[in-house]
Amino acid sequence: MDALDCIKKRRCVRQYLDREISQEILKDIIDCARLAPSANNIQPWEFIIIKDKEMLRKIACLTDYGTFIKDATICIVVVCKDTKYFLEDGSAATENILLAARAYNIGGCWVAGDKKKYCNDVLKLLNVPREYKLISLIPLGYCKNFPTPHEKKEFNEILHFEKYILKNIKDKRKESIKNSRFL
Ligand SMILES: Cc1cc2nc3c(=O)[nH]c(=O)nc-3n(C[C@H](O)[C@H](O)[C@H](O)COP(=O)(O)O)c2cc1C
Repeated sequence: MDALDCIKKRRCVRQYLDREISQEILKDIIDCARLAPSANNIQPWEFIIIKDKEMLRKIACLTDYGTFIKDATICIVVVCKDTKYFLEDGSAATENILLAARAYNIGGCWVAGDKKKYCNDVLKLLNVPREYKLISLIPLGYCKNFPTPHEKKEFNEILHFEKYILKNIKDKRKESIKNSRFL
């Protein structure tokens, strides 16, 4: 799958098949995370791979909107040293993981980290030193189907040429933003 296809076909997947992910594929996915851009090339990230079912369950239980982590084949936990741009750097690595997984036909979902009440509990459970922040939890697994795309904003809602021009956002879109669980 080429890069553009991969970006366009990525979806959050929250249901997984009971099928192993090979070590080779897993290593390549982490390699893609390792190669992400970071401010000043500091690379503040480290990655914890969780396979143990009991640990997956414990992490799932700590989260609010990540209970499906318990059903994943693995969960990659992205942590970053508390540097100036840790969140941006860790987010770039997270997206690389999701895209690399998609290229291997593996589904995954970005589950929130740093801004959540549970982040310290997760870090403690995983024995992560105090100077690290939780960026994301990424459950991964093969899936039956990639879900149908969520509604995405149209070009005319998000695109400007030369300078910002105030636009009227469609009412339907306003409503869906207002009702979003994650805001
Ligand atoms: C920073 C961030 C935090 C997210 N946290 C969660 C989460 O806690 N639980 C969840 O199910 N999805 C989470 N998501 C996934 C979004 O819900 C998902 O990306 C969005 O609904 C669009 O769907 P798509 O990724 O399939 O296009 C998160 C995504 C981002 C970028």
